[in-house]
Amino acid sequence: MKPSAIVYTSNTGYTAEYARMLGEKTGLPVYELSNMDELKKGTPILYLGWLFASNVKGYKKAAKKFQITAVCGVGLCDTGTMLAEVRKAISLPESTPLFTIQGGMDHSKLHGINKMMINMLIKGLKAKAERSEDEERMLSLVQKGGNYVSEENLAAVLAWHQK
Ligand SMILES: Cc1cc2nc3c(=O)[nH]c(=O)nc-3n(C[C@H](O)[C@H](O)[C@H](O)COP(=O)(O)O)c2cc1C
Repeated sequence: MKPSAIVYTSNTGYTAEYARMLGEKTGLPVYELSNMDELKKGTPILYLGWLFASNVKGYKKAAKKFQITAVCGVGLCDTGTMLAEVRKAISLPESTPLFTIQGGMDHSKLHGINKMMINMLIKGLKAKAERSEDEERMLSLVQKGGNYVSEENLAAVLAWHQK
């Protein structure tokens, strides 16, 4: 089933940027999940949410109201990685396509619990006597932050949409 709208949840702006880019490329209207009253129950949507401890923020809420045609999780991880973990965390049926897309991290826009969790993650990783290659990479990415948004990261989801 083809989506007739894009719905997203973003905390610091990277997911919003991808939703906007996808809207431009596909011609689909773009809505923030918090404004979902504008869309009818059961509308087939492409859902985008930012990754939070392998969960896709807002997915559960979106799935209650809409027909989810595919899910994009925007995180710090490399595009196309962490798929099994994310699918499990949100109990996404195998039949629903899932894409992970690298967004970024802006420490100046993190507040409250989110800021605390990131600081704890950094502290925990730094305190380890030995770190795996993946942990080393994650520590570097989380500490450094940065904007990794690019059109290339949307190639897989756009290929799915054009099918
Ligand atoms: C508390 C917290 C937990 C996060 N957990 C993950 C994660 O499990 N996997 C991941 O790849 N990125 C994780 N991230 C990184 C965000 O998903 C990333 O910064 C994303 O681009 C934010 O999108 P936004 O700007 O739309 O809010 C986490 C960030 C925060 C603040």
